[in-house]
Amino acid sequence: MSDRKTTVPAVRSTKRRNGAAPMVMITAYDEPSARFVDASGADMILVGDSVGNVVLGFPDTLHVTLEMMEHHVSAVARAHPGALIIGDLPWMSYHVSPQQAVESSARLIRAGAQAVKLEGGQNRVDVIEAIVNAEIPVMGHLGLTPQSVNTMGGYRVQGKSIEAADLLRQAARVVEDAGCFAVVLEGVPDDLGATVTDERSIPTIGIGAGPNTDGQVLVFHDLLGMGNRQTAKFVREYGQIGTAITEALTHFSDDVRSGAFPASAETYGTPDELKDHLGS
Ligand code: KIV
Repeated sequence: MSDRKTTVPAVRSTKRRNGAAPMVMITAYDEPSARFVDASGADMILVGDSVGNVVLGFPDTLHVTLEMMEHHVSAVARAHPGALIIGDLPWMSYHVSPQQAVESSARLIRAGAQAVKLEGGQNRVDVIEAIVNAEIPVMGHLGLTPQSVNTMGGYRVQGKSIEAADLLRQAARVVEDAGCFAVVLEGVPDDLGATVTDERSIPTIGIGAGPNTDGQVLVFHDLLGMGNRQTAKFVREYGQIGTAITEALTHFSDDVRSGAFPASAETYGTPDELKDHLGS
């Protein structure tokens, strides 16, 4: 349990142009990963629907359900992190109506999140307003929005043309006006990331949006080098934990097969009386 606690108002007011340091957001999906992320001093933990890709073995995030997200948010919350916990609303948990969106958000809050995140701009204004009116803080997500993979025709950098860039700038304005306290910018050219960051009063959290956003987010498994997938250009691996895990597990298997495990130090000795009884 951590003494510090990142709050939504603290995040809302963090802009680098006012001299603040960039904020750090890292995903986590279970209690141990949340403890590790919190111990690193990250400001925010995103329980992302990327859990579908990196933990549950799905090809995309479209298979992730609200029940799955509740399960993972509650596991992260049991770590009692000082970082703000943001629960990702999965596909089809907020697309039907504002009422559905409020009810889905409430389930993630009751599971232990302090805020929710959803993807989309102009087409999500009524939903964002309804959730914010229910006193639930909302983080937006624009640019390469993985839940739109079929509409985008793949995971492609967004906002590359003048028209697309201007649409994204407008989208950032409308999600801010609708009440988002921050917005993720994913997979956009660096100058567009910088422009949106300059234009908006809410902080931008970049992932593949260049160095000038108000914060950066990466997926836990990607940054630790334990992913099961081809990583995007914007990922930097800060460890090769996947290799270390495979080495440790192989070492264990070798020791079991050779009889080197368990040793006497890892074995409960048999009392003499029982030895006599067992004839050992
Ligand atoms: O689900 C997720 O992990 C995300 C981040 C990549 C921003 O949405």
